[in-house]
Amino acid sequence: MLKQLSIVILALATLFACTAPEPKEKALEQVINESLDFATHQSLLMAESLKDQPDRLPQTIDDEGKLVTCSSDWWVSGFFPGVLWYLYENNPSDSLKNWAINYTLRVEDQKYTTDNHDVGFMIFCSFGNAFRLTGDSAYKEVIHTASNSLITRFNPTVGCIRSWDSAPWSKQWQFPVIIDNMMNLEMLEWSAKTFEDTTYSHIAETHANTTMENHFRDDYSSYHVVSYDTITGEVERKNTAQGYSDDSAWARGQGWGLYGYTMMYRETGNEAYLKQAEGIADFILTHPNLPADKIPYWDFNAPNIPDAKRDASAGALICSALIELSGYVPAEKAKEYLAVAETQLRSLSSPAYRAELGENGNFILEHSVGHMPNGTEIDVPLTYADYYYVEALMRMKKKLATN
Ligand code: GLY
Repeated sequence: MLKQLSIVILALATLFACTAPEPKEKALEQVINESLDFATHQSLLMAESLKDQPDRLPQTIDDEGKLVTCSSDWWVSGFFPGVLWYLYENNPSDSLKNWAINYTLRVEDQKYTTDNHDVGFMIFCSFGNAFRLTGDSAYKEVIHTASNSLITRFNPTVGCIRSWDSAPWSKQWQFPVIIDNMMNLEMLEWSAKTFEDTTYSHIAETHANTTMENHFRDDYSSYHVVSYDTITGEVERKNTAQGYSDDSAWARGQGWGLYGYTMMYRETGNEAYLKQAEGIADFILTHPNLPADKIPYWDFNAPNIPDAKRDASAGALICSALIELSGYVPAEKAKEYLAVAETQLRSLSSPAYRAELGENGNFILEHSVGHMPNGTEIDVPLTYADYYYVEALMRMKKKLATN
């Protein structure tokens, strides 16, 4: 009797399991709003945690999970102020604004930086967002000075802005230009328009054209470093610094290229940049090593895939770029890009990548890779992963609101 009863219960349970509705996926809008709320709480904790160290900015965490900070001259210094500005844009509270101003001013001295190309990252993510959201002309002048610093690195014979001077790993190159440098052009395009001076846009577009010519392979993947001969302007070598090998596709580098050419199309309307961005997007989205959650391994050719580390920073950067690019292409393509961006946002917003409140050194995302060949910043939070994630959330939120 007991046996018969168990069989009936089991049969009913199986029937129920088969007919029970699937757990419903949360609406994307809800995922975005919850993630922005979480990011706000987490970033306010981060801001508070460094209130007594006014010269420091968040970078990553160490092996014990302790916050690692940097001074304003490290290339990532502008990202946390930028995160605060995006969160303030989403939720214009006094506390977010005050912290955003506080952290932005910590970076101001970098407007005079002429010994590397990162002045664009440092000043435009911080002061660029500050000016965009407040219109305060003091911020505008900082960006003007920074743009003048950046263009000192342009070499007309080469047709590019030089990336590094004397980093220990750069000694083998006469004039190294890294794909990341595409990102710094946004500040120059902005300055050209704001100050009605084509010097900036001429340099930005010459750099973008030279890079388009020399950094890309036939499949639209890119080398990380291209070095030029300073006498002839010809390519001297094509290498990597942060990728797996010279011929591999370092994931964040593919993201810098995608974002860079999408942005250059927005700024110039030049169809060649749009074609370049679409080619890069196709390379990424059709790559057999792109995982189902659409967060890439740190290099598309990493040797130990599927056990290779993921890079959430590359995922966030590509996501933000795809959302923008979807606005410039025909409807079918736009749908494809937005579907991948949605998967990326859902992945990054899940416990697989998003931290718990008050943990992870108060960074938002886990699981990025800074410099694998160097053995540094592997499977850690990185301030720029947070920046592009929050930017992507904001871009998708605006896209949903206008549809
Ligand atoms: N711009 C340096 C990096 O992507 O790690």
